[in-house]
Amino acid sequence: MKILLVGSGGREHALAWKLVQSPKCTKLFCAPGNAGIADQAECVAINVDEIEKLVTFAKDEAIDLVIVGPEAPLVDGLADALKAQNIDVFGPSAKAAQLEGSKGFMKDLCAKYDIPTAEYGRFTSADEAAKFINETGAPIVVKADGLAAGKGVIICETTDQAIEAAQDMLSGNAFGAAGHEVVIEEFLEGEEASFFALADGKTILPLVSAQDHKRVGDGDTGPNTGGMGAYSPAHFFNDDLRAQTIKNIIEPTIAGMAQDGCPFTGVLFAGLMVKDGQVKLLEHNVRFGDPECQTLMMRLQGDLVEILQAAAQGRLDEVTDQVSWSDDPAMCVVMAANGYPGTYEKNTVIEGFENANAVENAYVFHAGTSRNENDDIISVGGRVLGVTATGADIAQAQKNAYAAVDCISWPKGFCRRDIGHHALKAKGKAA
Ligand code: AMP
Ligand code: GLY
Repeated sequence: MKILLVGSGGREHALAWKLVQSPKCTKLFCAPGNAGIADQAECVAINVDEIEKLVTFAKDEAIDLVIVGPEAPLVDGLADALKAQNIDVFGPSAKAAQLEGSKGFMKDLCAKYDIPTAEYGRFTSADEAAKFINETGAPIVVKADGLAAGKGVIICETTDQAIEAAQDMLSGNAFGAAGHEVVIEEFLEGEEASFFALADGKTILPLVSAQDHKRVGDGDTGPNTGGMGAYSPAHFFNDDLRAQTIKNIIEPTIAGMAQDGCPFTGVLFAGLMVKDGQVKLLEHNVRFGDPECQTLMMRLQGDLVEILQAAAQGRLDEVTDQVSWSDDPAMCVVMAANGYPGTYEKNTVIEGFENANAVENAYVFHAGTSRNENDDIISVGGRVLGVTATGADIAQAQKNAYAAVDCISWPKGFCRRDIGHHALKAKGKAA
């Protein structure tokens, strides 16, 4: 099979690494890819938002399966455009991608199908938003309805702060068009986890849990980021929480989407809040998480090409028994450019990949890398590497991941040194 993978991050590198392990994969292209992905795939200079070019490329190369990594091209209709040319695609239609593309859409689906989530309201008027905020009280959460590159959520300690945040969004100042409508919701306390499930429109194939580390600094301090590290499984995510998540959240979402005329094909990434043994949905994403995907791909046993192709072709029921997971947990430590998530320098040289990849059960996934004229690997983004490893337990996975991190020589980069600290502290039984 000839496969085209769309994206250029650590998530896509992990997918590429797993895809080429399949005997079914005879040729892998990645658009646009990065310096690490180039070890597994032929990188093609087409950006993820160039939908027409991607479709033309897929047609010209007689691609058998397109796998879309990021959410933005899905929301913009890449899957629909490929399907219109009879090309199999793993990823939802634009309508189904509204689950991530519009927080209001997602919340209305929850309300309609009784999916547990925070109480909410949808607003386009600042006055009505302010009224709702005053009635509800603080703490309260204000969210831009549309895609805002992971930045559109503001947790407000006071009602004044929330009213200001809503006004900023609704005026278009904060997030442009993405903020023209806002969702305002109840603040939920608890512990966060992510859960992933594949769907082919009707059948669900539940995957596993993971936990991300959103804050930039050790001990979960400092500003939010796209994710500084992850591990799978989430240490507290036991069988009961898994069963609850599937029954109360994943199943009604997939059934509801089908019922409403926008069946969901692809991977559903549910952001969850767990308190007192009860699971609530914070958000749905329509793609794998980054860096969660890196940990999932290291644990997955089974042929990723067959699994994703079956999902794309609506026959996921044929592969459900082909998916299993290593009991060994996996951990991904993100290395970022100094200054991230603020401003940072680009084009700084990184070395030590060979030694890092030689560490037991470890692999360095690239997120924002390229090569300079001397063929050195250089940083071209904020989050630059996802150093990932497995181990017999979470402590060993952490040891292996940091042993690989310590092989990387990059004076202009940094990482958190405490990824997995919740799991190590709890030493609880994981599912
Ligand atoms: P979202 O993009 O909706 O997942 O929000 C990003 C982050 O904001 C989540 O991972 C949570 O840490 C936090 N968050 C979102 N919604 C809520 C809520 N209703 N209560 C508490 N925290 C929230
Ligand atoms: N790591 C969180 C995300 O991919 O949205």
